[in-house]
Amino acid sequence: MVTALIPNLIQKYSRKQKSKLPPGPKPWPIVGNLPEMLSNKPAHQWIHNLMKEMNTEIACIRLGNTYVIPVICPTIARVFLREQDAIFASRSLTTCTDLVSSGYLTTILVPFGDQWKKMKKTLSNALLSSHQLLRFHDKRNEEADNLMFYVYNKCKNVNDGVGGLVNIRSVARHYSGNVIRKLVFNTRYFGKGMKDGEPGFEEVEHVDSIFVLLRYLYAFSVSDYMPCLRGLDLDGHQKKVKEALRVIKKYHDPIVEERIKQWNDTPKVDEEDWLDILISLKDANNKPSLTLEEINAQIIDLLIATVDNPSNAFEWALAEMINQPKLLQRATEELDSVVGKERLVQESDVPKLNYVKACAREAFRLHPMAPFNPPHVSLSDTTVGNYFIPKGSHVILSRKELGRNPKVWNEPHKFKPERHLNVSNVVLTEPNLRFISFSTGMRSCPGVMLGTTMTGMLFARLLHGFTWSAPFNVSTINLTESKDDISLAEPLVAVAKPRLAPQLYQL
Ligand code: HEM
Repeated sequence: MVTALIPNLIQKYSRKQKSKLPPGPKPWPIVGNLPEMLSNKPAHQWIHNLMKEMNTEIACIRLGNTYVIPVICPTIARVFLREQDAIFASRSLTTCTDLVSSGYLTTILVPFGDQWKKMKKTLSNALLSSHQLLRFHDKRNEEADNLMFYVYNKCKNVNDGVGGLVNIRSVARHYSGNVIRKLVFNTRYFGKGMKDGEPGFEEVEHVDSIFVLLRYLYAFSVSDYMPCLRGLDLDGHQKKVKEALRVIKKYHDPIVEERIKQWNDTPKVDEEDWLDILISLKDANNKPSLTLEEINAQIIDLLIATVDNPSNAFEWALAEMINQPKLLQRATEELDSVVGKERLVQESDVPKLNYVKACAREAFRLHPMAPFNPPHVSLSDTTVGNYFIPKGSHVILSRKELGRNPKVWNEPHKFKPERHLNVSNVVLTEPNLRFISFSTGMRSCPGVMLGTTMTGMLFARLLHGFTWSAPFNVSTINLTESKDDISLAEPLVAVAKPRLAPQLYQL
């Protein structure tokens, strides 16, 4: 037995000796490259600039005692998430992910292990299967109809032919927020609601708080790399996340508690929404599968998974398309030919709308929601290419640079939906990681069907229902990225004019 182990050890040792870490800046003792990271904010820009200067598509940056491995090349990305997927199936531990997942009870933020397996299986089977997607079609449709009603109301008080000013960021984020609230809680509004379809104070507070969580989950907080600093909240991220969670829980907790009480008093015959499903799931001993803490935490996980990508993609795509009106024209021509002008787009139309889907796909490529994919943490030492990747490394695939890699994409900075039209059915997934939409492998997104449907409907309804242009005094939309992340620096405001019969916009 021992003799059999010796060659293995020698092999492993000599592999370590031969292969070195990916190239990177020389680390300082103990703190590694944290000083450079702190003096070159935002961190994502520093990392990307560093890779450009070093002319490398994979790097190794030591933050405290953690090896952070950014990747901008699809071939290398595929080794991590396809060939060696099982090794890179864990997630990093950060103070903010700990807070948001209530101590790692959920799916997205949870390291590899039994809890992640349990929750991912629950989501995939009980909430996100094609059967469940069909079952809750009408709830999503109510929100797609409300989207039209809401935007139409923004135009209706304006003189004929002038159109109404619409804050696209707000409209798109609230459409996503409405859909997920309707699916989870069977309600659009936490408060009294609004007559013209717009979000009330409660919904604005709710959606804004979800975006605060998204901003800080993996925000290169110095205390995550120097555990001795953990309690100090030097950059203030923990305080902001705690406040956002307080707001979110203020709305969720009473609904969840009341619903559990209802189920305990008299079990319902049928589940009306995802909350009912989560409460009524049973394990092999006919006991509730999920605890109250798991249900509460998992709901927050679902919210953060849903609100950002469709809304960010639409905001960017529309900004790009207003600057290239031929693209808008081509999209509306497709919509008029597939759907006509006598009815609204339905989910069943979306598969036939290749050009509209190509616009969404192009937005995911060129303007992803975040600079990096969530970290994938290695469960053992390994070698990728000729580089040694130690156990515990944080691999961060660059969503920004994979989609703009000039070796893969011709004119990478140009918004050109037609580049995706070389297939008979355009899809939003990209398992080859030439850009990242839903990612691939064990940690890939289980919400592909719902995410594709929501994105397709958001694009198709708004492009079919309205003619879009820049505001009166604006010649072209400013496409500058925000300094902190890669969202549009200023929320897109555009002019909408209804292009269908007035009765089609009514609820
Ligand atoms: C257009 C919409 C969406 C996009 C582009 C998207 C994209 C992604 C990406 C990039 C990841 C990370 C994959 C990785 O770590 O490699 C992810 C994970 C995840 N997504 Fe989505 N997503 C979308 C919608 C949704 C929806 C609607 C849900 C559920 C309601 C959902 C649930 C999840 C979950 C649970 C994970 C974590 C998977 C894991 O860690 O095992 N997503 N998604």
